[in-house]
Amino acid sequence: MNRYVGAIDQGTTSTRFMVFDHAGSVVARHQLEHEQILPKPGWVEHDPTEIWERTRTVVGTALARAGLTAADLAAVGVTNQRETTLVWNRHTGRPYYNAIVWQDTRTDRLIADLDDEHTELIRKRTGLRPAPYFSGGKLRWILDNVEGVRADAERGDALFGTIDSWLIWNLTGGTHVTDPTNASRTMLMDLRTLRWDEELLRVFDIPAAMLPVIAPSSNPAGYGTTMPDGPFGGMVTIAGALGDQQAAAVGQVCFRPGEAKNTYGTGNFLMLNTGTDIVDSTHGLLTTVAYQFGDDAPAYALEGSIAVTGSAVQWLRDQLGIIAGAAQIEDMAAQVDDSGGVYFVPAFSGLFAPYWRPDARGAVVGLSRYSNNAHLARATLESIAYQTRDVVEAMQRDAGTRLSTLRVDGGVTVNNLAMQIQADLLGVPVSRPVVAETTALGAAYAAGLAAGFWAGTDELRSNWHEDLRWLPTWSDADRERGYTRWLKAVERTLGWADL
Ligand code: G3P
Repeated sequence: MNRYVGAIDQGTTSTRFMVFDHAGSVVARHQLEHEQILPKPGWVEHDPTEIWERTRTVVGTALARAGLTAADLAAVGVTNQRETTLVWNRHTGRPYYNAIVWQDTRTDRLIADLDDEHTELIRKRTGLRPAPYFSGGKLRWILDNVEGVRADAERGDALFGTIDSWLIWNLTGGTHVTDPTNASRTMLMDLRTLRWDEELLRVFDIPAAMLPVIAPSSNPAGYGTTMPDGPFGGMVTIAGALGDQQAAAVGQVCFRPGEAKNTYGTGNFLMLNTGTDIVDSTHGLLTTVAYQFGDDAPAYALEGSIAVTGSAVQWLRDQLGIIAGAAQIEDMAAQVDDSGGVYFVPAFSGLFAPYWRPDARGAVVGLSRYSNNAHLARATLESIAYQTRDVVEAMQRDAGTRLSTLRVDGGVTVNNLAMQIQADLLGVPVSRPVVAETTALGAAYAAGLAAGFWAGTDELRSNWHEDLRWLPTWSDADRERGYTRWLKAVERTLGWADL
């Protein structure tokens, strides 16, 4: 009985369910991809019903394969792609429109039109730099463009949620909640009070009746209980919810100020725990909630968000067809010793941190007749590492300290060449834990702490073990020469979209 904790990880490209034991080891898992709906340049949508179906399937399949039932689980945590926005009807449960994904840039005009006063208000109160990335503008777009939503929202019949809210609502049969890490990405929550902010709701013209209740990320009172006829086939308490990048920081046991992790998923997200201090970035990073455990004061973080890293590898696979699968990029890039002077800036959704330029678009520069697919593959891996260096530079300036080791996790970190390139281009060791599925693990930790399955963060810390470490091999001169050229390549992408 209650030997394990489960975690649903609903990400940008796939949904997984994992079960962990007390040592933080994986005992069951299943994962499924879902469709990326790309109706126009810059638009990215997901079908919320497909996401819920995938969630049902991965939970049911993982449990069945491992011979587990709801009774084996002490609690369940939910973690999710952040900012992705949807609205559904309270009575029918039907979404009014597809979920608008965090990468979607359709609200760039709306954000560009915010006046200085509102821009400053958003920055001060939410810790965010206004951008199409965040939920507030996306929600406003749905209210303005989808028939019937505004009237229903004002009556309290249309509900807004990020994906955590959508899944918990479906799992529990109607509990409408979110956690402060997800709410901190909407441009609608006050970072200090962890409540929806009336002034910001007025700026975006959002009816308060459609918003979920904000409850702690690790929630001893529970977010709700799963429905017996749902995918768990029984009642389990949902006791944890965190945005996926914050969950990865928890899974990497970044509980002390100064501890940082870098997650390599669709995008990259570097997060530095700043403790109970709200640190205002002056170098292009975001200030965000790291987690709130029960009644404890919330922990905050500085975040460097990069929109396109793993998805650049997918682009080589899906749009260019030069690799058959993501795993192939390592072999292809290893065919050459360097990128042959090719630099690839995958600014598909503009550039996020530290540039925040929605008007940037992707570019490949430095091509010669000598250039081939292997050079482009290598330039893609280098683009992931260079973008990480951009945010590490910003973080070091904001925090006034040097990074001694980069803790990494996420899908791309199985690529050893990519991690060696990262150590070379950054000039610091790169360290990967044994359980690289830190996102799901973090959600399980949040739920398990609330349920008393784990006694405290020290116990979690002892679960962290290093698997591999990559040391820098480049000379400082080579590293700086390469980085200078990268910065020149970035410059060429700025302003291309001419907003
Ligand atoms: O902010 C977006 C982020 O939460 C998406 O993460 O892992 O789904 O690419 P991922």
